[in-house]
Amino acid sequence: MVFKWLDERLELREFKDHFLSKTFPAHPTFLLGEIALFSFITLVVTGVFLGFLYEPSSKMVALFGAMVPAAYASVVRIDLLPMGMIIRRIHHWSAMIMIAAILAHLMRVYFTASYRKPRELNWLVGLGLWTITMGGAFTGYLLPYSKFSVTATSIAYYIAKSVPWIGGWISRLLFAGTFPSDGTVPRFFFIHVMLIPIALIGLIGLHMLILVKQKHTEPISNKSKKEADGGRRLIGIPIWPEQAAISVSFYFFLLFVVVLIATYIPLNPIETYGPPSPGTPVMRPDWYFLIVYGFLKLIPGDLSFSILGGKITPETIGGVIFPTFTIAVLALIPFLDRVKEPQNYMANPLHRPFMTSFGVGGGIFLGMLVVAGYIDVLHIAPQRMLVYTIVASIGAWGISYALLRLYNKKRKGGG
Ligand code: HEM
Repeated sequence: MVFKWLDERLELREFKDHFLSKTFPAHPTFLLGEIALFSFITLVVTGVFLGFLYEPSSKMVALFGAMVPAAYASVVRIDLLPMGMIIRRIHHWSAMIMIAAILAHLMRVYFTASYRKPRELNWLVGLGLWTITMGGAFTGYLLPYSKFSVTATSIAYYIAKSVPWIGGWISRLLFAGTFPSDGTVPRFFFIHVMLIPIALIGLIGLHMLILVKQKHTEPISNKSKKEADGGRRLIGIPIWPEQAAISVSFYFFLLFVVVLIATYIPLNPIETYGPPSPGTPVMRPDWYFLIVYGFLKLIPGDLSFSILGGKITPETIGGVIFPTFTIAVLALIPFLDRVKEPQNYMANPLHRPFMTSFGVGGGIFLGMLVVAGYIDVLHIAPQRMLVYTIVASIGAWGISYALLRLYNKKRKGGG
């Protein structure tokens, strides 16, 4: 009845026949992109709840007889509300899960060569999504305005300031002046709740549109099925209602897992950290920022030089050059690993010794940087940790390359 009414006005049937009858190839690893997408939905819903109660200001107010920043006081009050603390934890856990899912999804696309022609553009859109999601996590850090928030954000402030030539301008734009100042919290709040969600919604939409237009890569097992089936374009599940039913059920399952984790595992307990105060102890950022944090730990503190009037400091190398270089290398991959014919099937990672071993070595390198974020508690000297990091990553690359070459030689030789 409602559908008929709407169809007469909006020609919904055309959309239903054209779009919803499309087929989606089934493979468990395709759920990784969905986990990222679903976590984003949970972030928006819980974020709207938090947005009604949060006060974006660092002005001092009274809370239980003590003077604390208004942002901090509002988050303490949220924690005291019925369901308040759990919703805040669900928000933070969803951010963690979204970033973990993005990384796993990126690895799936990389190892199966699904970035190859014609999907180069969607790979680049994906890299944009990853970068902006990290921006969302970073701006979210400051908002509770606890001791931890201020320490973590001040690291980023010095990184922003260290950009040669334009560092002062970037830091003023992002932090609304020097940090900490009264302008910073409202500026971060605006970026966190407006700019980043709008950019993510736009880019996720583009990512999905390109995906629908280009069609998904298929599991290689579909090839023989398709040949037997007269070469149909895609073998899989229709988007409506089968895939939709699976996705909605999967969303609720994911939500159940997140609620369970959030119930039992506290995150960012700001009451324990307390409001900002002088002499804050060393605090480690969340795991996904440990890559940059660990890299900064490995660079000698006195490594600075000038180039064309701009100063390069350890912060510039670890916080600006290294992340930019990593993203640039990833962006170039589809253009270096090119194929003439479109890549319609997921490649077998075992059949790609160079790219797979490069991915393994790169993954170990990033993993070692996370470990480097803990060198103070592990009591390892930075120079020694640097040697371990280089040896482990080059070793992993070399060993996996040699083994994969051997495997492929035997496979091709029919042995
Ligand atoms: C907010 C972050 C992201 C979301 C919500 C998202 C979502 C999705 C979804 C739902 C799919 C279809 C299912 C699947 O293949 O897993 C997909 C496919 C794809 N994504 Fe993402 N993605 C994100 C980030 C990324 C990143 C970081 C990359 C790589 C740099 C990437 C590259 C691709 C490519 C190339 C495809 C097509 C894969 C194929 O046809 O096999 N995405 N994405």
